[in-house]
Amino acid sequence: MTAPGLAIGAPCDTPFSNNEPSFRKAEMDAIDQLRTRYLHEIAEAPDETAVETLRVEALGKKGEISLKMRELGKMTPEERQVAGPALNALKSELTSALVARKSALEDAALSERLKDEWLDVTRPPRPQARGTIHPISQVTEEITAIFADLGYSVAEGPQIESDHYNFDALNIPPEHPARQEHDTFYMHRDTGDNRPPHVLRTHTSPVQIRYMETHGVPCRVIAPGRVYRADYDQTHTPMFHQCEGLAIDKDISMANLKWTLEEFCKTFFDIDGIELRFRASHFPFTEPSAEVDIRCSWSGGQLKIGEGDDWMEILGSGMVHPKVLEAAGVDPSQWQGFAFGMGIDRLAMLKYGIPDLRAFFDSDLRWLRHYGFAALDMPTLHGGISR
Ligand code: PHE
Repeated sequence: MTAPGLAIGAPCDTPFSNNEPSFRKAEMDAIDQLRTRYLHEIAEAPDETAVETLRVEALGKKGEISLKMRELGKMTPEERQVAGPALNALKSELTSALVARKSALEDAALSERLKDEWLDVTRPPRPQARGTIHPISQVTEEITAIFADLGYSVAEGPQIESDHYNFDALNIPPEHPARQEHDTFYMHRDTGDNRPPHVLRTHTSPVQIRYMETHGVPCRVIAPGRVYRADYDQTHTPMFHQCEGLAIDKDISMANLKWTLEEFCKTFFDIDGIELRFRASHFPFTEPSAEVDIRCSWSGGQLKIGEGDDWMEILGSGMVHPKVLEAAGVDPSQWQGFAFGMGIDRLAMLKYGIPDLRAFFDSDLRWLRHYGFAALDMPTLHGGISR
């Protein structure tokens, strides 16, 4: 092909002006070489940075192709007509090759990542802690652990009790005022049913009788469980929990009782400066009797232990009355011992700063999650009873 303008005076100093066909061949060869080299390098580029480096080398401001395009200005129109389209074609071919390579690398990187982040949805889920141990259960376990360490075993008795075990055997005859004091729930009897009434046990003391009857003496035993009295305010609920204690042997004295209760409280509360008050009291089933209070404060609606001017009663205790031993078939001239009944709920309130007893039985999930214990948080002496 003869370039139309060639005859009428192309600038004579243009390097290739005189040998257009050979220019064309050389130029096309050079472009072809660039093309082959870059396409190869692009295809081999190991990552996106390498692709970008190649783009700058070829098409950047000072890139090889860009420089060549700048040379177009120095060419004759005929030469430009040959080199221009070829360079433009090369530029767009390399541009698409770069884009294609880049997206191929991106795809590869993504599949690599997906391989790593692959999720096996058929695997069983991690166990999720649901529910908590109620503070009452926790404290019952704590009490049991402490007394187990002192050599006590655990006994249980029925919650529906005969009035014999709940009262008579404990030296509370029918006309005794203590029967009224206990605000007892009596089970319904049909008219004409003249059996003595059953009651919801008002304390855990009937287990003393039941245990001695079946196991004999000597014995060291605690009996935690539910008890019932018709009473309802910030520190009383109609159902609450007690833990009975009974130690019978040949030479047990009030001193042993005091030591045992002090030892228990020290271990249970693990608070320096915890203060106990033994108060002379009266129970039909112990003689002498003592009630134990703990120093606490209620300031600002907060219940705190070991400070303040208030006292909270946590247990009743005393030396087992001879009549009680007799009622359980134990000879009081040979055996003696002490008994106590502590309020588990009260102990939990004091230890964990829970101001209102009624919340224990409201089943409010937020409360349960807040005051509840992790399932594996088992109280042991070596693990520490208190946290
Ligand atoms: N049973 C008594 C009560 O419920 C407590 C107690 C138990 C007192 C054992 C003395 C001995 O109040």
